Amino acid sequence: MSRRRRIYEGKAKVLFEGPEPGTLVQYFKDDATAFNNQKKGVITGKGVLNNRISEYLMTRLGEIGVPTHFVRRLNMREQLIREVEIIPIEVVVRNVAAGSLSKRFGIPEGTALPRSIVEYYYKSEELGNPMVSEEHITAFGWAAPQDLDDMVALSLRVNDYLSGLFLGIGLRLVDFKLEFGRLWENEEMRIVLADEISPDNCRLWDIKTNEKLDKDRFRQDLGKVEEAYQEVARRLGILPEGGPVDVKAPKTIQ
Ligand code: TMP
Ligand code: ASP
Repeated sequence: MSRRRRIYEGKAKVLFEGPEPGTLVQYFKDDATAFNNQKKGVITGKGVLNNRISEYLMTRLGEIGVPTHFVRRLNMREQLIREVEIIPIEVVVRNVAAGSLSKRFGIPEGTALPRSIVEYYYKSEELGNPMVSEEHITAFGWAAPQDLDDMVALSLRVNDYLSGLFLGIGLRLVDFKLEFGRLWENEEMRIVLADEISPDNCRLWDIKTNEKLDKDRFRQDLGKVEEAYQEVARRLGILPEGGPVDVKAPKTIQ
């Protein structure tokens, strides 16, 4: 890991130069942050689990025709991805009121929304990722109108597909955040799904009990944080044999 060229280090992941041009290696850390970096911690084994969970979900999405940056998982904490130009917009899709939507509009957490709601946030840590409108995005040139149309269409397909997938394992997909990138192939540009899909950027509640099985356990100090990530992996059928073996703490749940 140390001799490769480090391209970028984020809060939860590191990107290294890939083995061939146009590829990168995405390394998943155990570090967790919340509230724009004000709260910091470590969720032991999270990187191993998110690597697997994101691999699984991106692969399933690829199979239904959603283009993604994912190529293949390399090892416990790394995956090979296509190098893309990240569009500086976070697309949030919500099915049930929670988090900042509940706070902003005074809607109790858990209220079903009349329809899925798509929101955009500008990726800028200095500015605290402000919510923006389509007008801001296109006027400031963060994405072209066609790019944005593609991003929304893909986000809604991801929502439909993942809502069903999670429902099948007793989880409600309350909301999630996606990032997209531009991928060039022979002078042609495509918008593809990038970053990761994991309990770091989804809200997942148990269908029966409404128990939170995502990063809100860390954000809100609810305890059993590691166990929540393991439970999502377990229900997806991808918990590594014997648990995430390159870390000490987590135990396999039967
Ligand atoms: P929010 O309710 O805090 O706006 O979050 C909406 C969804 O987006 C939730 O599933 C968590 C995810 N999210 C991120 O992945 N990164 C972020 O920086 C924020 C604020 C939210
Ligand atoms: N990822 C964001 C941060 O680090 C916010 C969050 O996920 O709550 O601050």
